[in-house]
Amino acid sequence: MKSSVRIHPSILNADHSKILSEIDRVAKVSDFLHLDILDGKFAPNTSFSWAEAQNIISGSSIPVDAHLMVIDSDVQGPRYAEAGCTSVTVHVESTADIRKTIKNIKSNGARASLALKPASQIETYIDHLDEVDMFLIMTVEPGFGGQSFMPEMMEKVSKTRDLIGERPIWLQVDGGISKETIEIARAAGADTFVAGSAVYKSDNPAAMINTLRALAEHVQPN
Ligand code: DX5
Ligand code: ZN
Repeated sequence: MKSSVRIHPSILNADHSKILSEIDRVAKVSDFLHLDILDGKFAPNTSFSWAEAQNIISGSSIPVDAHLMVIDSDVQGPRYAEAGCTSVTVHVESTADIRKTIKNIKSNGARASLALKPASQIETYIDHLDEVDMFLIMTVEPGFGGQSFMPEMMEKVSKTRDLIGERPIWLQVDGGISKETIEIARAAGADTFVAGSAVYKSDNPAAMINTLRALAEHVQPN
């Protein structure tokens, strides 16, 4: 897929009873599948069990981008990499040894990414700029799909884009991405977009992904 942006549909709010066919509905037009793992402790919600996650990872026809919202990221990060995810994101707020966990994710063959909740500042993590493959700037509080996009996070996205400079680090946003907000996030410098309810609440999820991609592609990032 030749595009200046990546679209990662989130299956958090897709129909969990037929999850592999839900993935098939978007596979042809998506770059990665965004798999949210919530343990009910890091954020007040749960999503997929380990068995369900393994089924998704091995059954997905597109690469999996796991977003771990769990309290034991140092253990779970490498475990999801080993299970076959192409990208594994851990939260800075739940990682005791960021450097070691990034290393362990990469040595298990996955791209390693750091996520920041709305209250966390990117400046604290600049030491990891030469280690990570992606930063995820949350544009909602982790936990649930269908929340409103936080435009006040755009300053953090722009700052992160500046800090990244010429490094080949992807910059992802997650939460409230829709037809109404994707251009704002692209203008601030994001290049990788998670969209959950905008995609799965639409009558035609694949067409919605194409629409989101076209909107983002037309924006010149600042
Ligand atoms: C929220 C998750 C998101 C969620 C996004 O904690 O990380 O990936 O599924 O859903 P929407 O796009 O509906 O905000
Ligand atoms: Zn997510």
